[in-house]
Amino acid sequence: MKRIITILLTLITMASTISAQTLDSSWPKGNPNDAYAQYFTGNSYLAPIQPKNLAAGDKTIQGYSNVTFEPGCRNNWHIHHGAHQILICVSGEGIYQEWGKSAIHLHAGDIIDIPEGVKHWHGATKDSWFQHLASHVHVGDPESNEWLEPVSDEQYASANHAAVRIHTEKDMIVRISEIEVYPEYLQEYLEFAHNVGVTSVKEEPGVICIYPMQQLRDDCQIRILEIYASQEAYQHHIKTPHFQTYKQGTLQMVKSLDLVDMSQMAPEALSLIFSKSSNPSFREIASSRFACRKFSGEQIGREQLGAILEAGRLAPTAKNLQEQHIYVVQSAEALAKIDLNTPCRYGAQTCLVVAFDKNNVYTYPGGKRDSGVEDASIVATHMILAAESVGVNSCWVNFFDPEKLASDLGLPENEEILMVMDLGFAAEGTGPQKAHFSRKPIEETVSYL
Ligand SMILES: Cc1cc2nc3c(=O)[nH]c(=O)nc-3n(C[C@H](O)[C@H](O)[C@H](O)COP(=O)(O)O)c2cc1C
Repeated sequence: MKRIITILLTLITMASTISAQTLDSSWPKGNPNDAYAQYFTGNSYLAPIQPKNLAAGDKTIQGYSNVTFEPGCRNNWHIHHGAHQILICVSGEGIYQEWGKSAIHLHAGDIIDIPEGVKHWHGATKDSWFQHLASHVHVGDPESNEWLEPVSDEQYASANHAAVRIHTEKDMIVRISEIEVYPEYLQEYLEFAHNVGVTSVKEEPGVICIYPMQQLRDDCQIRILEIYASQEAYQHHIKTPHFQTYKQGTLQMVKSLDLVDMSQMAPEALSLIFSKSSNPSFREIASSRFACRKFSGEQIGREQLGAILEAGRLAPTAKNLQEQHIYVVQSAEALAKIDLNTPCRYGAQTCLVVAFDKNNVYTYPGGKRDSGVEDASIVATHMILAAESVGVNSCWVNFFDPEKLASDLGLPENEEILMVMDLGFAAEGTGPQKAHFSRKPIEETVSYL
């Protein structure tokens, strides 16, 4: 048993190493990009492309270079002056991000037009090679490249994360593959199925789930639950080397195959269901949360709201007083009252008003401070991070007069409002703003005594 597990683990590791580390492209890789290495994190390669009809050394009117990024490689933030840069993506998976905007996920066939004067970066995703052709269109003198700071590991991790989340549940493909396997090939087939599932979910941002199962009453009856973020993600998946290995390797093992497309009964619950098993690290949740300032207008799911409120319920409070009171604002009438008090709802269809009972706070020794504001802040912080963990974007809002808002919403006299939390889904094309990427170095805010 132990030996089988070891072989299996080795196979999985080999499969992921091969597909992540091999550049599978008919476009030239060229030479190490030594001249610009100082402006890149990770290794990149450069291949000038000479039009086929021109002789070597002939000048083309529009020069192109093919840039190859190894997995994890990206260039520094930079600005093109006097030119637009055009990127034509030719293979692999990459990311393009403009300063203050959300990252855009790139595949072969995508084109990016980078305006003059805009701070940006581009590169490969963390798990894939990436190639794009680059060309400059002159728009004014002087033409130059201004190289700026590297894209930090935190910015890069957040961009990889955001690149996966641009799809909504509506775009997803959900399917159950019903497969019957010849008994003599069963063990071998199971290894193939396991490998393709693990490798796909690990390496392809758009593959949400590939989960093979066997019937108990007939173990040759295999069912695979497959969920893809979009049609595009599915098309990408079936071209990957690991899927092709699975398909070719299992052809003679399969007696019958039926692909059954399913419609989702509760798409809004999907991120919640998967958050239970996927377990992103706390750091990932804390760094991917951002102040969302444009919501799509779509309402959050009941399960998501439940998970957020439950995280507030579990928060610690001084002396365990639990003096918080959360108001869920979803009706048009109550949302209009929020709008009367602050311009910061940003289209969110749910706002949580976090208040606390002023008559039930703990006054600390010295008599000058009590627990109300901080207990309610802890509750709100729990909820805002829980929102991120179930795929809900948020904004912490304090730009309002708390007494007036309390009176407009008809809160009891003994309650004070701490904050309003906007909840929803970021509108397409929006993402973290500049402030999100600007945190002081740890030495400035931490002292060891
Ligand atoms: C106590 C507090 C009050 C805030 N009030 C507002 C607000 O009224 N309107 C708003 O748009 N953002 C507000 N924010 C969001 C902050 O501006 C934002 O969190 C900060 O700039 C860091 O950006 P990030 O959240 O995207 O990382 C508030 C945040 C906190 C913690």
